[in-house]
Amino acid sequence: MTVDDIKNTIMCGDALELLRKIPDGAIDLVVCDGPYGVTEKSWDRVESIQEYNLQLIHIFSRVLKAGGAAYLFGKHNCIDFIDYRPFLDLVNRIVWYQPARLGQGRKRYTNNHDIMAYFVNRGAEATFNLDAIRVPQLVELEHRMRCERVPSVRNGKYGKTRFNEKGKNPGDVWGDIKQLTYKSKELASPELHTIQKPEKLIERIVKASSNPGDMVLDPFAGTGTTAVVARRLGRDFIGFEINPNYVEIAESRLSRLEEEMEAAAAQVSLFK
Ligand SMILES: C[S@@+](CC[C@H](N)C(=O)[O-])C[C@H]1O[C@@H](n2cnc3c(N)ncnc32)[C@H](O)[C@@H]1O
Repeated sequence: MTVDDIKNTIMCGDALELLRKIPDGAIDLVVCDGPYGVTEKSWDRVESIQEYNLQLIHIFSRVLKAGGAAYLFGKHNCIDFIDYRPFLDLVNRIVWYQPARLGQGRKRYTNNHDIMAYFVNRGAEATFNLDAIRVPQLVELEHRMRCERVPSVRNGKYGKTRFNEKGKNPGDVWGDIKQLTYKSKELASPELHTIQKPEKLIERIVKASSNPGDMVLDPFAGTGTTAVVARRLGRDFIGFEINPNYVEIAESRLSRLEEEMEAAAAQVSLFK
């Protein structure tokens, strides 16, 4: 089987089984938002989340192109005490900070972040389109004055910090993208707010770590957010999802997107 046989489709089945069908080095970017191992949902229960993730990381190193990237979502300990180093290089543990998350207990601090472990495959320089994901600088004047005269980390000398007018690197703590709530217009259906990821979050990943025409794999596609974002940004995708109801939801989101894109293209040709 070639990737062309399954590209731009969501296949229904178990990710570990289906991943075997992907030829070596066929994928530019993996967005992996699978089990976290923390809820009561049957699909979220795995014996050891770390061992499960290690299996995935091993497979991703095979299916990724040299320099390809994988973003693995999870909780703070999702890659602790496993040795992923023979397979992929860990570049960042991105913290997705959600300050509005409600308190979850009285005996410990509320967990209000998820981790996205950003890995790259060896053998070539990884794609990182910084200009596509810049965020606004802090423009408050006093802060700016203070920042403009800071000692250099290298030699301690004071110098003028130059601001890039196009914005700054978003860094590895992302607090500017909100989790969806049951009221979000973007939700495919109200009860899905605990699993569906915001398009903006996936957009940042797809824009940074892939180029138009690249192949994006989401082995736990859920409601199809990665697929929708990838298509909108001119990438191809392959999605796997075990729950047939979610596959249906993802497919209807994709058909809606195709209709929107066709309508937009028709508008453009009207004005030509
Ligand atoms: C956190 S959700 C993904 C949500 C998705 N990012 C979205 O925005 O809709 C994880 C998904 O993985 C699916 N899943 C869990 N175990 C799976 C497996 N072994 N193979 C394929 N899909 C699986 C679940 O059904 C669920 O839809």
